[in-house]
Amino acid sequence: MTQRQSKKNVLVTGGTGLLGRGLEETLPPGWKVVSLHQRDYAVAGSSASHLVLDIRDKRAVDRLFARRRFDAVIHAAGIASVDYVETHYAESLESNIVGTLNVTSAARRAGTHLTYVSTNAVFDGTKAPYAEDAPVCPVNKYGGLKVECERLVRETLESWTIVRPILMYGWNHPECRQNPATWVREKLARGEAVSLVDDVDENPLYNVQCGRALWAVVLKRPAGVFHLAGRTRVNRWEFGRAVAEAFGLDAALIRRVKSSAFPSIAPRPPDTTFLTDRMERELGVGAMTLAEGLAAMKAAAPARA
Ligand SMILES: NC(=O)c1ccc[n+]([C@@H]2O[C@H](COP(=O)([O-])OP(=O)(O)OC[C@H]3O[C@@H](n4cnc5c(N)ncnc54)[C@H](OP(=O)(O)O)[C@@H]3O)[C@@H](O)[C@H]2O)c1
Repeated sequence: MTQRQSKKNVLVTGGTGLLGRGLEETLPPGWKVVSLHQRDYAVAGSSASHLVLDIRDKRAVDRLFARRRFDAVIHAAGIASVDYVETHYAESLESNIVGTLNVTSAARRAGTHLTYVSTNAVFDGTKAPYAEDAPVCPVNKYGGLKVECERLVRETLESWTIVRPILMYGWNHPECRQNPATWVREKLARGEAVSLVDDVDENPLYNVQCGRALWAVVLKRPAGVFHLAGRTRVNRWEFGRAVAEAFGLDAALIRRVKSSAFPSIAPRPPDTTFLTDRMERELGVGAMTLAEGLAAMKAAAPARA
Protein backbone atom coordinates (compact mmCIF):
# COMPACT_ATOMS: atom_id res chain seq x y z
CA MET A 1 0.00 0.00 0.00
CA THR A 2 1.39 3.44 -0.90
CA GLN A 3 1.70 6.23 1.63
CA ARG A 4 -1.05 8.15 -0.21
CA GLN A 5 -3.49 5.23 0.06
CA SER A 6 -2.83 4.75 3.77
CA LYS A 7 -3.90 8.29 4.72
CA LYS A 8 -7.07 8.66 6.76
CA ASN A 9 -9.83 10.68 5.18
CA VAL A 10 -12.44 13.08 6.47
CA LEU A 11 -15.53 13.88 4.46
CA VAL A 12 -16.26 17.60 4.78
CA THR A 13 -19.70 18.51 3.47
CA GLY A 14 -19.65 22.16 2.48
CA GLY A 15 -15.88 21.83 2.18
CA THR A 16 -15.51 24.78 -0.19
CA GLY A 17 -16.86 27.28 2.37
CA LEU A 18 -14.72 29.46 4.66
CA LEU A 19 -14.64 26.76 7.32
CA GLY A 20 -13.58 24.10 4.79
CA ARG A 21 -10.76 26.32 3.62
CA GLY A 22 -9.55 26.71 7.23
CA LEU A 23 -9.53 22.92 7.54
CA GLU A 24 -7.44 22.51 4.41
CA GLU A 25 -4.94 25.09 5.65
CA THR A 26 -4.39 23.19 8.91
CA LEU A 27 -4.31 19.64 7.51
CA PRO A 28 -2.46 17.36 9.97
CA PRO A 29 -0.03 14.72 8.68
CA GLY A 30 -1.64 11.42 7.73
CA TRP A 31 -5.01 12.95 6.80
CA LYS A 32 -6.69 14.06 3.62
CA VAL A 33 -9.90 15.97 3.01
CA VAL A 34 -12.70 14.82 0.74
CA SER A 35 -14.54 18.08 0.08
CA LEU A 36 -18.19 17.83 -0.92
CA HIS A 37 -20.04 20.73 -2.48
CA GLN A 38 -23.07 21.35 -4.61
CA ARG A 39 -22.15 23.52 -7.59
CA ASP A 40 -19.79 22.17 -10.22
CA TYR A 41 -16.66 24.33 -10.34
CA ALA A 42 -12.91 23.84 -10.02
CA VAL A 43 -11.44 24.96 -6.70
CA ALA A 44 -8.09 26.57 -7.47
CA GLY A 45 -5.27 25.81 -5.04
CA SER A 46 -7.21 23.18 -3.09
CA SER A 47 -5.33 20.14 -1.77
CA ALA A 48 -8.57 18.19 -1.18
CA SER A 49 -10.24 15.75 -3.50
CA HIS A 50 -13.61 17.16 -4.57
CA LEU A 51 -17.06 15.63 -4.90
CA VAL A 52 -20.01 17.44 -6.46
CA LEU A 53 -23.16 16.19 -4.77
CA ASP A 54 -26.40 17.70 -3.47
CA ILE A 55 -26.98 16.52 0.10
CA ARG A 56 -30.76 16.91 -0.44
CA ASP A 57 -30.49 13.86 -2.71
CA LYS A 58 -30.78 10.93 -0.27
CA ARG A 59 -29.97 8.29 -2.87
CA ALA A 60 -26.80 10.09 -3.92
CA VAL A 61 -25.67 10.45 -0.27
CA ASP A 62 -26.40 6.75 0.41
CA ARG A 63 -24.52 5.70 -2.74
CA LEU A 64 -21.50 7.76 -1.65
CA PHE A 65 -21.34 6.09 1.78
CA ALA A 66 -21.87 2.63 0.20
CA ARG A 67 -18.98 3.25 -2.18
CA ARG A 68 -16.48 4.85 0.20
CA ARG A 69 -15.40 4.48 3.80
CA PHE A 70 -14.68 7.69 5.73
CA ASP A 71 -12.70 7.88 8.98
CA ALA A 72 -14.68 10.95 10.07
CA VAL A 73 -17.41 13.25 8.79
CA ILE A 74 -17.65 17.01 9.33
CA HIS A 75 -21.09 18.18 8.25
CA ALA A 76 -21.01 21.91 7.41
CA ALA A 77 -23.04 22.05 4.18
CA GLY A 78 -26.26 23.95 3.96
CA ILE A 79 -27.56 27.46 3.50
CA ALA A 80 -25.61 29.59 5.96
CA SER A 81 -26.84 33.06 5.03
CA VAL A 82 -29.12 34.34 7.81
CA ASP A 83 -31.02 36.66 5.48
CA TYR A 84 -31.41 34.09 2.68
CA VAL A 85 -32.93 31.56 5.11
CA GLU A 86 -35.41 34.16 6.34
CA THR A 87 -36.73 34.81 2.81
CA HIS A 88 -36.26 31.31 1.26
CA TYR A 89 -37.48 29.12 4.11
CA ALA A 90 -38.78 26.13 2.10
CA GLU A 91 -35.50 25.81 0.19
CA SER A 92 -33.57 26.20 3.45
CA LEU A 93 -35.59 23.44 5.15
CA GLU A 94 -34.63 21.06 2.35
CA SER A 95 -30.99 22.04 2.41
CA ASN A 96 -30.47 22.25 6.17
CA ILE A 97 -32.97 19.76 7.63
CA VAL A 98 -33.41 17.17 4.85
CA GLY A 99 -29.73 17.46 3.89
CA THR A 100 -28.63 17.01 7.51
CA LEU A 101 -30.95 14.02 7.96
CA ASN A 102 -29.51 12.40 4.83
CA VAL A 103 -25.90 12.90 5.94
CA THR A 104 -26.45 11.90 9.58
CA SER A 105 -28.44 8.78 8.60
CA ALA A 106 -25.66 7.62 6.27
CA ALA A 107 -22.98 8.30 8.92
CA ARG A 108 -25.02 6.43 11.55
CA ARG A 109 -25.38 3.36 9.34
CA ALA A 110 -21.66 3.46 8.50
CA GLY A 111 -20.77 3.86 12.21
CA THR A 112 -18.70 6.98 11.46
CA HIS A 113 -18.15 9.78 13.98
CA LEU A 114 -19.89 12.96 12.81
CA THR A 115 -19.12 16.53 13.79
CA TYR A 116 -22.04 18.85 13.15
CA VAL A 117 -21.25 22.51 12.50
CA SER A 118 -23.85 24.69 14.22
CA THR A 119 -23.75 28.42 15.02
CA ASN A 120 -23.94 31.20 17.63
CA ALA A 121 -27.36 32.03 16.12
CA VAL A 122 -28.91 29.38 18.42
CA PHE A 123 -28.87 32.07 21.16
CA ASP A 124 -31.01 35.20 21.56
CA GLY A 125 -28.03 37.36 22.50
CA THR A 126 -29.36 38.68 25.81
CA LYS A 127 -27.23 36.62 28.24
CA ALA A 128 -23.66 36.74 26.94
CA PRO A 129 -21.06 35.42 27.44
CA TYR A 130 -22.45 32.00 26.51
CA ALA A 131 -21.16 28.65 27.76
CA GLU A 132 -22.01 25.44 25.88
CA ASP A 133 -24.79 24.45 28.29
CA ALA A 134 -26.71 27.76 28.09
CA PRO A 135 -30.33 27.26 26.94
CA VAL A 136 -30.82 27.85 23.21
CA CYS A 137 -33.36 30.45 22.07
CA PRO A 138 -32.98 31.54 18.41
CA VAL A 139 -34.37 34.87 17.16
CA ASN A 140 -34.31 34.12 13.42
CA LYS A 141 -35.25 31.22 11.11
CA TYR A 142 -31.61 30.28 10.44
CA GLY A 143 -31.00 29.84 14.18
CA GLY A 144 -34.21 27.82 14.46
CA LEU A 145 -33.09 25.40 11.75
CA LYS A 146 -29.68 24.95 13.36
CA VAL A 147 -31.33 24.15 16.74
CA GLU A 148 -33.40 21.43 15.00
CA CYS A 149 -30.29 20.03 13.32
CA GLU A 150 -28.46 19.92 16.67
CA ARG A 151 -31.41 17.98 18.13
CA LEU A 152 -31.38 15.58 15.19
CA VAL A 153 -27.66 14.92 15.70
CA ARG A 154 -27.96 14.40 19.49
CA GLU A 155 -30.99 12.14 19.25
CA THR A 156 -30.06 9.91 16.32
CA LEU A 157 -26.29 9.45 16.48
CA GLU A 158 -24.15 7.54 18.96
CA SER A 159 -20.83 9.11 18.06
CA TRP A 160 -21.10 12.86 17.56
CA THR A 161 -19.70 16.28 18.42
CA ILE A 162 -21.40 19.62 17.85
CA VAL A 163 -19.24 22.69 17.26
CA ARG A 164 -20.66 26.19 17.23
CA PRO A 165 -18.38 28.60 15.40
CA ILE A 166 -19.12 32.29 15.83
CA LEU A 167 -18.74 34.96 13.09
CA MET A 168 -15.83 33.75 10.94
CA TYR A 169 -13.33 35.74 8.89
CA GLY A 170 -10.44 34.78 6.62
CA TRP A 171 -9.68 34.19 2.94
CA ASN A 172 -12.58 32.50 1.21
CA HIS A 173 -12.28 30.49 -2.02
CA PRO A 174 -12.95 32.98 -4.84
CA GLU A 175 -16.04 31.02 -5.96
CA CYS A 176 -17.64 31.18 -2.50
CA ARG A 177 -19.36 33.90 -0.51
CA GLN A 178 -17.38 36.67 1.11
CA ASN A 179 -17.17 37.29 4.86
CA PRO A 180 -17.16 40.59 6.77
CA ALA A 181 -13.35 40.93 6.63
CA THR A 182 -12.96 40.36 2.88
CA TRP A 183 -16.07 42.43 2.16
CA VAL A 184 -14.97 45.47 4.21
CA ARG A 185 -11.43 45.21 2.88
CA GLU A 186 -12.60 45.13 -0.73
CA LYS A 187 -15.01 48.06 -0.27
CA LEU A 188 -12.45 50.28 1.49
CA ALA A 189 -9.74 49.39 -1.04
CA ARG A 190 -12.09 50.74 -3.74
CA GLY A 191 -12.67 53.90 -1.70
CA GLU A 192 -16.33 53.04 -1.06
CA ALA A 193 -18.11 53.94 2.19
CA VAL A 194 -19.68 51.17 4.30
CA SER A 195 -22.22 51.27 7.14
CA LEU A 196 -21.60 48.89 10.05
CA VAL A 197 -23.71 48.40 13.15
CA ASP A 198 -22.44 49.05 16.66
CA ASP A 199 -25.14 47.03 18.45
CA VAL A 200 -24.25 43.44 17.45
CA ASP A 201 -21.36 41.97 19.47
CA GLU A 202 -19.33 38.79 18.94
CA ASN A 203 -15.80 37.48 19.49
CA PRO A 204 -14.93 36.70 15.82
CA LEU A 205 -13.09 33.56 14.80
CA TYR A 206 -10.25 33.33 12.26
CA ASN A 207 -11.08 30.42 9.95
CA VAL A 208 -7.60 28.94 10.41
CA GLN A 209 -8.15 28.78 14.20
CA CYS A 210 -11.50 27.14 13.44
CA GLY A 211 -9.65 24.58 11.30
CA ARG A 212 -7.26 23.75 14.16
CA ALA A 213 -10.16 23.26 16.56
CA LEU A 214 -12.01 21.00 14.11
CA TRP A 215 -8.96 18.82 13.56
CA ALA A 216 -8.63 18.44 17.35
CA VAL A 217 -12.26 17.27 17.39
CA VAL A 218 -11.62 14.80 14.56
CA LEU A 219 -8.58 13.36 16.35
CA LYS A 220 -10.04 13.28 19.90
CA ARG A 221 -13.74 12.65 19.12
CA PRO A 222 -14.97 14.36 22.30
CA ALA A 223 -18.69 14.07 23.01
CA GLY A 224 -20.84 17.16 23.42
CA VAL A 225 -20.83 20.78 22.33
CA PHE A 226 -17.90 23.17 21.79
CA HIS A 227 -17.98 26.92 21.31
CA LEU A 228 -15.35 28.12 18.82
CA ALA A 229 -14.46 31.81 18.98
CA GLY A 230 -11.64 34.34 19.18
CA ARG A 231 -10.51 36.27 22.26
CA THR A 232 -11.66 39.80 21.33
CA ARG A 233 -15.25 40.94 21.78
CA VAL A 234 -16.19 43.60 19.23
CA ASN A 235 -19.26 45.02 17.55
CA ARG A 236 -19.39 45.04 13.73
CA TRP A 237 -18.30 48.69 13.51
CA GLU A 238 -15.24 47.99 15.68
CA PHE A 239 -14.56 44.88 13.60
CA GLY A 240 -14.57 46.95 10.41
CA ARG A 241 -12.17 49.47 11.92
CA ALA A 242 -9.82 46.65 12.97
CA VAL A 243 -9.86 45.34 9.37
CA ALA A 244 -9.07 48.85 8.08
CA GLU A 245 -6.18 49.17 10.50
CA ALA A 246 -4.76 45.71 9.73
CA PHE A 247 -4.80 46.29 5.97
CA GLY A 248 -3.76 49.96 6.05
CA LEU A 249 -7.10 51.27 4.72
CA ASP A 250 -9.15 54.39 5.47
CA ALA A 251 -11.33 53.73 8.54
CA ALA A 252 -13.07 57.10 8.02
CA LEU A 253 -15.08 55.43 5.22
CA ILE A 254 -16.85 53.29 7.85
CA ARG A 255 -20.13 54.79 9.06
CA ARG A 256 -21.35 53.82 12.53
CA VAL A 257 -25.06 52.91 12.50
CA LYS A 258 -27.67 50.98 14.51
CA SER A 259 -29.34 47.74 13.37
CA SER A 260 -32.54 49.74 12.91
CA ALA A 261 -30.84 51.25 9.81
CA PHE A 262 -31.42 47.85 8.11
CA PRO A 263 -35.12 47.15 8.79
CA SER A 264 -35.50 44.57 6.01
CA ILE A 265 -32.89 42.06 7.19
CA ALA A 266 -33.49 39.13 9.58
CA PRO A 267 -33.28 39.94 13.31
CA ARG A 268 -29.83 39.43 14.84
CA PRO A 269 -29.12 38.51 18.48
CA PRO A 270 -27.43 41.57 20.04
CA ASP A 271 -24.54 39.88 21.89
CA THR A 272 -23.62 36.21 21.37
CA THR A 273 -20.06 36.44 22.67
CA PHE A 274 -18.85 32.92 23.53
CA LEU A 275 -16.86 31.57 26.44
CA THR A 276 -13.97 29.60 24.95
CA ASP A 277 -12.71 27.74 28.06
CA ARG A 278 -13.87 24.33 26.83
CA MET A 279 -12.23 24.79 23.43
CA GLU A 280 -8.95 25.82 25.06
CA ARG A 281 -9.00 23.17 27.80
CA GLU A 282 -10.28 20.09 25.95
CA LEU A 283 -9.21 20.78 22.36
CA GLY A 284 -5.92 22.50 23.26
CA VAL A 285 -6.62 25.40 20.88
CA GLY A 286 -5.89 28.96 22.03
CA ALA A 287 -8.33 31.77 21.22
CA MET A 288 -6.59 34.31 18.96
CA THR A 289 -7.10 38.02 19.50
CA LEU A 290 -8.66 39.89 16.58
CA ALA A 291 -5.36 41.69 15.94
CA GLU A 292 -3.52 38.34 15.84
CA GLY A 293 -6.08 36.79 13.49
CA LEU A 294 -6.11 39.76 11.10
CA ALA A 295 -2.29 39.90 11.10
CA ALA A 296 -2.17 36.18 10.25
CA MET A 297 -4.77 36.73 7.53
CA LYS A 298 -2.76 39.59 6.06
CA ALA A 299 0.40 37.47 6.08
CA ALA A 300 -1.46 34.69 4.25
CA ALA A 301 -2.93 36.97 1.57
CA PRO A 302 -3.30 35.19 -1.78
CA ALA A 303 -1.68 36.79 -4.82
CA ARG A 304 -5.05 38.06 -6.14
CA ALA A 305 -5.85 39.98 -2.92
N1 LIG B 1 -19.31 31.73 8.13
C1 LIG B 1 -19.65 32.02 9.38
O1 LIG B 1 -19.39 33.12 9.88
C2 LIG B 1 -20.32 30.97 10.23
C3 LIG B 1 -20.61 31.28 11.58
C4 LIG B 1 -21.24 30.32 12.37
C5 LIG B 1 -21.56 29.09 11.83
N2 LIG B 1 -21.30 28.81 10.53
C6 LIG B 1 -21.65 27.49 10.00
O2 LIG B 1 -20.49 26.90 9.46
C7 LIG B 1 -20.82 26.10 8.34
C8 LIG B 1 -19.94 26.46 7.17
O3 LIG B 1 -20.10 27.83 6.91
P1 LIG B 1 -19.29 28.53 5.74
O4 LIG B 1 -19.41 29.99 5.96
O5 LIG B 1 -17.95 27.89 5.62
O6 LIG B 1 -20.19 28.10 4.48
P2 LIG B 1 -20.42 28.82 3.10
O7 LIG B 1 -19.20 29.64 2.74
O8 LIG B 1 -21.74 29.47 3.11
O9 LIG B 1 -20.44 27.57 2.14
C9 LIG B 1 -21.51 26.66 2.15
C10 LIG B 1 -21.01 25.33 1.68
O10 LIG B 1 -22.10 24.39 1.71
C11 LIG B 1 -22.24 23.84 0.40
N3 LIG B 1 -23.64 23.50 0.18
C12 LIG B 1 -24.73 24.30 0.34
N4 LIG B 1 -25.86 23.62 0.04
C13 LIG B 1 -25.47 22.37 -0.31
C14 LIG B 1 -26.15 21.20 -0.74
N5 LIG B 1 -27.48 21.18 -0.84
N6 LIG B 1 -25.44 20.09 -1.05
C15 LIG B 1 -24.09 20.10 -0.95
N7 LIG B 1 -23.36 21.17 -0.55
C16 LIG B 1 -24.05 22.30 -0.24
C17 LIG B 1 -21.70 24.91 -0.54
O11 LIG B 1 -21.39 24.33 -1.79
P3 LIG B 1 -21.27 25.23 -3.13
O12 LIG B 1 -20.01 26.02 -3.00
O13 LIG B 1 -21.21 24.22 -4.22
O14 LIG B 1 -22.50 26.09 -3.17
C18 LIG B 1 -20.47 25.36 0.24
O15 LIG B 1 -19.45 24.42 0.12
C19 LIG B 1 -22.30 26.30 8.09
O16 LIG B 1 -22.98 25.16 8.59
C20 LIG B 1 -22.66 27.53 8.87
O17 LIG B 1 -23.98 27.46 9.35
C21 LIG B 1 -20.67 29.72 9.71
